[in-house]
Amino acid sequence: MITTSIDTAIKLLDNNDVIALPTETVYGLAGNAFSKKAIEKIYKLKKRPNNNPLIVHIGSTDQLQNVAKNIPEIAYKLAAAFWPGPLTLLLEKQENIPDSVTAGLSTVGVRIPNHQLALDLLNKLDYPLAAPSANPFNAISPTSSKHVAHYFGNQLKCILEGGHCVNGIESTIIGFDATQQPVLYRHGAISIQEIEALIGKIKNETYTTGQPIAPGMLSKHYAPKTKIIKSNNLSESIQAYKTFKIGLIVFNELHVIKQVEAVEVLSKTGDFKEATRNFYAALHRLDEIGLDIIIAEEMPMYDLGLTLNDRLNRAIK
Ligand code: TXA
Ligand code: MG
Repeated sequence: MITTSIDTAIKLLDNNDVIALPTETVYGLAGNAFSKKAIEKIYKLKKRPNNNPLIVHIGSTDQLQNVAKNIPEIAYKLAAAFWPGPLTLLLEKQENIPDSVTAGLSTVGVRIPNHQLALDLLNKLDYPLAAPSANPFNAISPTSSKHVAHYFGNQLKCILEGGHCVNGIESTIIGFDATQQPVLYRHGAISIQEIEALIGKIKNETYTTGQPIAPGMLSKHYAPKTKIIKSNNLSESIQAYKTFKIGLIVFNELHVIKQVEAVEVLSKTGDFKEATRNFYAALHRLDEIGLDIIIAEEMPMYDLGLTLNDRLNRAIK
């Protein structure tokens, strides 16, 4: 059921149940982070392998000590600059966080989402919410309540209506190495430039090919059902698939209009924030119209273009 009733959500969460929660990035499947029962339900619903940990959502920095300890100075600096917002920090976990949340790791992913309804809910609860994106494992992330209902309609008693996600792409994940130096684990809604402007150059351990070096870096993810390729020469690619029903995703311009069934322009003005906001919704739309192939233009290799290319690379594996 799609609702705006926080009370409905609280009743279910207090009962170890799982709800869908809007955030500024994507919708999440949320449950009490201290409840093993709720966490088990999340993994089951998502059909997610249990070696892939969940992000814990808190309502204010006061709650950080309840979930993490030995927090590096740089983490506080990042939190002060970007929370509430699309930044997840990987921190040493407190004992009360069940191992199932962190998939047995000693670190926990934490963030404060920048969405009023989510914040209101989190600040009424006396526990944090573990929430992965509200899509079945490997499917495209949901940026509207409709996407969530499409995936889990009859399995969820509560989908909180929070409108279209403003950022539309997952949080940027930053962890810390043994010497407490920051490390980029996942490109996301905050660009690396923004982060580096605050704390200087950071190590990049995001993963695109081969074996993942840590959970959360799986090369295949975020994939539509329709075959998808990335192209740096759209006319050539369209020519190569000319007998196919083609859907196009382009960054800002409509280069080619002939020979394709559908076109998604991510941002007419080339605005990165608008492009990321539209990205998953565009993939969802193209995935529903019976295409033979989606051809996605390679995105610019800077700013949030790095995040968009990261998601495209994972979608095409
Ligand atoms: O924007 C977001 O982060 C959204 C919203 C709902 O907050 N959540 C989200 O969760 O994207 P999920 O589960 O779809 O992706 C979280 C990623 C996973 O790939 C997971 O492996 C990684 O974060 N992760 C979580 N905790 C980790 C840890 N302790 N070490 C390494 N990776 C971790
Ligand atoms: Mg996800």
